[in-house]
Amino acid sequence: MKNKFPTDFLWGASTSAYQVEGAWNEEGKEPSVQDIKSIPEGTTDFKFASDHYHRLEEDVRLFKELGLKAYRFSISWSRVMPNGKVNPAGIAFYKRLIELLKENDIQPIVTVFHFDLPASIAEKGGWENRETIQAFADYCQVLFDHFGQDVPLWQTINEQNVMALAGSVIGTSNKSMKEKFQENHHMLVAQALVTSNYHKGNYNGKIGPAPNIASVYPASDKPEDQMAALYMSALRNWLFLDVAVFGKYNHNAWHLLEKIGAAPVITAEDQTILAEGTGDYIAFNYYNTMTVSSYFAKEQKIDQQSGFGIPGFFQTVENPHLPMTEFGWPIDPEGFRFTLNEIYSRYRLPLLVTENGIGASEQLIDGKIHDDYRIDYLHQHIQQMALAIEDGVEVIGYCPWSAIDLISTHEGINKRYGFIYVNRTDEELLDLARYKKDSFYWYQQVIEENGLGE
Ligand code: BG6
Repeated sequence: MKNKFPTDFLWGASTSAYQVEGAWNEEGKEPSVQDIKSIPEGTTDFKFASDHYHRLEEDVRLFKELGLKAYRFSISWSRVMPNGKVNPAGIAFYKRLIELLKENDIQPIVTVFHFDLPASIAEKGGWENRETIQAFADYCQVLFDHFGQDVPLWQTINEQNVMALAGSVIGTSNKSMKEKFQENHHMLVAQALVTSNYHKGNYNGKIGPAPNIASVYPASDKPEDQMAALYMSALRNWLFLDVAVFGKYNHNAWHLLEKIGAAPVITAEDQTILAEGTGDYIAFNYYNTMTVSSYFAKEQKIDQQSGFGIPGFFQTVENPHLPMTEFGWPIDPEGFRFTLNEIYSRYRLPLLVTENGIGASEQLIDGKIHDDYRIDYLHQHIQQMALAIEDGVEVIGYCPWSAIDLISTHEGINKRYGFIYVNRTDEELLDLARYKKDSFYWYQQVIEENGLGE
C-alpha cells in the first residue's frame, strides 16, 4: 500500500486564520465578520482561538516534529488590509510564518480567503456589492507581491459552495437565495480575476479553487432519485468547479437557480473574466458524501455536511449504510475514493485534498489524548485515497483538518480536529499549552513511511 504514493507527495495538515490565530484586534487588525457575529450559546468566540499568533515558533516546531511536508493555512484579509490599507504588522506576521516553514522544509500552501471577510467590507454590502471584487483583487495583489515567489500553491476561496449554501450556519451570510447567489457570482468573478492576475505575474506556482466536494448518492434505484442526485451535485459541487475550470456555469445548476428565482445577474464582461481566469489544479475539502431523494417532505435544517433540500429538486436523507461521528456527520471513506474519481474524470487536473478529518469532544487525561477514532478515520481515508491513486487519479497531497486544535465554525472548541491538543475549553482559556495526541505519533509514522505500510 505504501508505494501507491508518489515520492514528492505532500503530506500536510490544515488550519484557517480566524479559527487558530486569536489576536483578533492586535497590531492593526480590524475585526472580520467572524469576530463580530453572534455565537451559539455554550461555544467560545474566535477572539483568542488557539493563540497561534503568539505561539508561531512553538507551533511550527511541532509541525516539524510531526514531519509535515506541507502546511495549508489561510491569510487573514482583515489583518493584512484593515480598512483597505496595507498593515505592515500583518505582512510581517505571515512573512515570519512562511520563513519559519521554509527553514523547517515545510512547503507553505496558502488560501487567501477562508470565511473571514473584513467587517468594513461587510458593512458596505460585502460580496453583494460589486466593488468587493476589486477590493479582493487588490488584497490578493498585495499577497502576490509579498509572497508570490515563496508560496508555490495558492487557493483563492475556501468552500465558496458552503458560504453560498450554508452561510447562515458558518456565519458568513444570512441573506435570501437570490442575494446569496448574486454574492456567489461576484465571488466567482473575483476568483477568476485574481487567477488571471496571478498567471500574468509569472510567479512560478499554481493557483486553484478550494470548494467542499461531496459525491451525491441517489437514495434508491428509482430514476427520479438519480435525477435528484444529479441536481444536488450540480448545485453543490459542479457549479463551483465548472466555473473554476471551464469558465462557465453548469447547465443543471443554472436551470435550478432560474427555477427558484435565484439566478444572478451576469454581465458580458463577467463572462469574459470567468472564461479567462481558470485554475491550474483543484484543491478540495472532503468530509462525507450526501444521499438524496426526489421526494421533498419538509423544510430541512441546513448543515454544511448533513445537507439541505430544494423543494421540487431533492431532499437530503440519512444513509443507513454509513456510521456517524458524534457530531452527526456521516463517515464514508469509500465515498472519498468515489469523490476523488468523480472530480478527476470530470476535470483531469491534479487534486490536492485540503481538508478531511473527524471532530470529537476530548478531555486531557494525564497529559494524553487517546484518539483512536481519529487514527481509524484517517487510516481508512488514506487507504481509499491510495486506491483512488491506483485507479489513476492524480493526487498531489493530503492535508487533514486540522494541524492543531482550533475553534470549529459553529460548535466551539468542544469539537476538536487537531493532531495537537490545545489546553483550553469553551468557557476558560487555561494555559493554552500544547499536547501531542496519539494521532500525532501515528501520522508522524505515516509520513515517514510515505503511506500506511504493508
Ligand atoms: C470546513 C471548513 O467546512 O470544515 C473549516 O473549511 C471547518 O473551516 C471544517 O472548521 C469543519 O467544520 P466544523 O463546522 O466542524 O468546524
